[in-house]
Parts: sequence; structure tokens; C-alpha cells
Amino acid sequence: MEAAAAGRIQQHRSYLMCRPDHFTVSYTINPWMEPANPTDTAKAVAQWQTLYDTYVALGHDVHLIDPIAGLPDMVYTANGGFVIDGVAYGAKFRFAERAPEGPAFMDWFRDAGFDVADPAEVNEGEGDFLLVGDTILAGTGFRSTGDSHRELGAVFGKEVVSLNLIDPRFYHLDTALSVLDPVEGPGGAERANIAYLEHAFDERSQAILAERYPDAIRVSDADGAVFGLNSASDGLNVVISPRATGFEAQLRERGYNPILIDLSELLLGGGGIKCCTLELRR
Ligand code: ARG
Repeated sequence: MEAAAAGRIQQHRSYLMCRPDHFTVSYTINPWMEPANPTDTAKAVAQWQTLYDTYVALGHDVHLIDPIAGLPDMVYTANGGFVIDGVAYGAKFRFAERAPEGPAFMDWFRDAGFDVADPAEVNEGEGDFLLVGDTILAGTGFRSTGDSHRELGAVFGKEVVSLNLIDPRFYHLDTALSVLDPVEGPGGAERANIAYLEHAFDERSQAILAERYPDAIRVSDADGAVFGLNSASDGLNVVISPRATGFEAQLRERGYNPILIDLSELLLGGGGIKCCTLELRR
């Protein structure tokens, strides 16, 4: 097998998702959201269900948080917090429309037995924070603040690398960068691997990424523009948008197994596969 030859190893994942029972686009907080365009909630639920079923079929644990009426963006659970070693750093949303989601997710974390760190700073959880090895890559520019990066470092005692996002279409880090394999080899970032869209970052951030991850997959602007990077990997299987055809080929070349799931309806809210997926690390 190609994947085995490249040494790709599937890792078990535990995820938190939220069924989009109340999904719609009724306000605009990112350039993708256009309330005048109709949304189809049943279609959103059906597409979401395919993603859920895919994770379960891959052997992952998927936990669910109850959707709340009036919070149409709650389906994007990646923004609900950031969880490492049983500790959940809560989210504090940038916009009033999503603010009530913060406490709702913190209640879920507490009930599920996580220690919750109440956030003082504005941050949108795993939408902007991604764990690679022992390092947290942290996005800023549109949603999470630089102060939240400092708070994050204090909560988890890990190195935090701040990256500046500059294109409003890619307003969360997880829309511009994907962690394909978070496990570091003996030589640091030897095996850990990421994919990213260069043009979503300022020059300083591009230089940091190039230096730290020389083997990273750099995706085309076309694949980035269809939210190709908003994907979920277990180290072997990478769930991506079927529209990201170039990225799909790049993944195959590297021995990953791309799995194509279409979340076109949820893209109307400016979110994709990763946005609907929060990793729970015990
Ligand atoms: N409509 C949501 C917002 O603008 C989409 C969030 C997407 N989530 C993500 N992790 N990128 O906040």
C-alpha cells in the first residue's frame, strides 16, 4: 500500500460536533455569508450527517453538543474552544451574534469532565489554534487577538507561534492551514506535517512556516478558495472538500488517503469540514 510505504499512521481521534438543526445565514460576519441567498437547513443536516458517519466509520469517537435555536453558527464547533490534556480553554467570540456560544460550549466541557479555563481575551478556539507536536500555531488578524495567544500560552504552558492572516476570506487559521500529522518525530518537526495557503499569510508568517515546515504541502490559490484546507486528518485519512482536486492529488502523492465530503451548504456560512469538527484531547 502506498500509504503504508510513506509511513502514514492513522491516529485515533475524539471529536465534538453539533447537528446544524438551526443552521441558516441571517447575519454577515465573514465575506462568505450573504443573508439574501437562501439556505436549505435539511440539506445542511444531510451533508453534516455524511461527515459524522464518515468519522464514525473511520473508528473515531464523535460527541455531540445540543444545538441551540437562534445560534445558527453553532454547527462550527471548532470555534467552541481549544482542548489539550483534558483542559478546555473557552472561546470568547469576536461578534455579538456568536457570543452566547462561548458559555454553552464551556458548560458542555464541564459536564463532560474537562477542566475549563475561562477566557479573558477574545479567541475563537480551534478555528484559530492548531496543535502541531508540542507547539500551538495561533492565527490572528480577524478574530482571535494577539492577547489571546499570550493567554493560550499561559493556560497550556506550550510554545505559541503567532501567524498573521491577511485575506478576509481566510479569517480563521483553519481556513488557511491544515495539520496533516501532528506527531513530531525524533528530529522535532521531522514527521509532523502541515498544508497551507501561502497568500493567506503576511510575509513574516510565510517565512516562519517555510522555516519550520520545509516539507509542508503548499496548496494552490484555487484549492484554498474552495476551502480545501478546512480539512480533518487522522494522520492517514484526510477528509477534504471534493472541489479541492489539486490538494487531493498532492495528498495522494504523499501517501495520505483523501476522503471527499461535500459541505457546500455549510460553506454558505463560511465554514467547512474542519469548522464543524473540534478535537477533544484528554
Ligand atoms: N459563520 C461562522 C463565523 O463567521 C463560520 C465559522 C467557521 N469556523 C471555522 N472554524 N473556520 O464565525
